[in-house]
Amino acid sequence: EKGGYEHFMLKEIFEQPSVIKDTYRGRLLADQGIVRLGGLEDHIEKFINADRIIIVACGTSWHAGLVAEYIFEDLVRIPVEVEYASEFRYRNPIISEKDVVIAISQSGETADTLAAIKLAKSKGAFVYGVCNVVGSTISRETHSGTYTHAGPEIGVASTKAFTTQITVLAMMALRLAKAKGTISKPDYMLYLRELELIPTHVEEALKTDSKIEEISAVFKDARNFLYLGRGYNFPVALEGALKLKEISYIHAEGYPAAEMKHGPIALIDEQMPVVVIAIKSDHYDKVVSNIQEIKARKGKIIAVVSKGDTVVREMADYVMEVPHTPEALTPLVTTIPLQLLSYHIAVMLGRNVDQPRNLAKSVTVE
Ligand code: F6R
Repeated sequence: EKGGYEHFMLKEIFEQPSVIKDTYRGRLLADQGIVRLGGLEDHIEKFINADRIIIVACGTSWHAGLVAEYIFEDLVRIPVEVEYASEFRYRNPIISEKDVVIAISQSGETADTLAAIKLAKSKGAFVYGVCNVVGSTISRETHSGTYTHAGPEIGVASTKAFTTQITVLAMMALRLAKAKGTISKPDYMLYLRELELIPTHVEEALKTDSKIEEISAVFKDARNFLYLGRGYNFPVALEGALKLKEISYIHAEGYPAAEMKHGPIALIDEQMPVVVIAIKSDHYDKVVSNIQEIKARKGKIIAVVSKGDTVVREMADYVMEVPHTPEALTPLVTTIPLQLLSYHIAVMLGRNVDQPRNLAKSVTVE
């Protein structure tokens, strides 16, 4: 049932090209300029007239929510707040019928997310679910929603659920941007075509696996890791750090790259591996200077770079290449090497990759 892979996690990482396709199949028709999500069509007005979109989730799903915040604000121009479900539900939040809540959950059973949904509903908000497990409690408790179609995720560490959640959220943003008129026709068509190409790009990123395994061998005994990214890839840095923590038990922190100078830079020495997402984007030059600051303090740089990059390649100790895609879609590819890095490190340390200590696949306790 692991399909020849040593662990479910590895199988699920390698399934991503095909499950991302499953997620957009029949919903994204790039040539015809169509994005159609059954659960969304009847509620488009609700979304585009909303005062705010509030996204509630936990863990990796919360990271997908953060990526969605960037995409929605960028393309749909609606203010978005992303909340840990556990904080939202306990702090007497201000919500009204003018708000739309998106709840993201792989399992559809997370107790805090469920409680946040019930609270939002009680205040009159419209609640939309993005779940993977069909018929799950959250999918039943929400007013409408979209399934991710990632198939069963067995490994406790979430991988394919994350990328398929982002795929759904990107499709939602494109559909809403079109309805609201906040995206130009050429940009809209470009995004649709580029989204359709993501499985091919993920496939290509997965081909760097053996290179990433070599990098993993170099750093497996590090005690701490820092993960840095900017913009759309700040949430990817958080997700990379979470993945490493949960399966290898190595301490890792994700940070927006520019926040380094406000504290974490004090941690940098020759012992500290720093994973930097340094792909070609609007922030490229800024990330390059962040890398210089780390190098000046002898930190070891493992950089995720765009294919063909030469500048960062010169400066970094190790690079992991990903194909080029528009910035809003880059989290779908930059996440891949980080998943593989944590997987290989955990395997080398003899960890129970599919069932890390103290963790459960569905967190049904509060
Ligand atoms: C991380 C992980 C957890 C879950 C979190 C939310 O790899 O698996 O952080 O993402 O418990 O779970 P769902 O998405 O099922 O609500």
